[in-house]
Amino acid sequence: MTETTARLPGDPSASASVARMIRVDHAGEYGAVRIYQGQLAALRGRGKSDLVRHMLAQEQHHLRTFDGLIADRAVRPTALLPVWHLAGFALGALTAALGERAAMACTVAVEETIDAHYQKQLAELDQTEPDLRATISQFRDEEIEHRDTGLAHGAEQAPGYRLLRAVIKTGCRAAIALSERV
Ligand SMILES: [Fe+2]
Ligand SMILES: [Fe+2]
Repeated sequence: MTETTARLPGDPSASASVARMIRVDHAGEYGAVRIYQGQLAALRGRGKSDLVRHMLAQEQHHLRTFDGLIADRAVRPTALLPVWHLAGFALGALTAALGERAAMACTVAVEETIDAHYQKQLAELDQTEPDLRATISQFRDEEIEHRDTGLAHGAEQAPGYRLLRAVIKTGCRAAIALSERV
């Protein structure tokens, strides 16, 4: 029996772990909004702006949903939001300044990381949180769409794709680990 299934409903450790999930997911969606805003600013209506605008609208919906969960469940948001505000925008703007394909490579790296993160949460969430589970599952599907959009629009042809992807994924994983705790 895993630790998750051994937990009883209402167990304080369960609500603490759910609070940690909501905190990190809120931080991630906040960062995603900032990345796509940074990309749009750098693209200035050129290139793949329409695609980026569509992904931004979905991230804004994800963020609003987690804003609601933060409020409803009195979860403390991460203290690092001001950092993600700047770092997310900078990541989006810098990659888009390198070119459309680098912007798409950034999208692939970020969305792949979020997909894995949501997948892990879905495995951890038990039957006591059906609504949260459904929300995360739906958002995960949209993050996978974003990754596929990046792949369909030249991400892999970006100069230095492998390195760029690896560096961004490492950064995102570090941001996730920090946002769960801080
Ligand atoms: Fe998202
Ligand atoms: Fe996304």
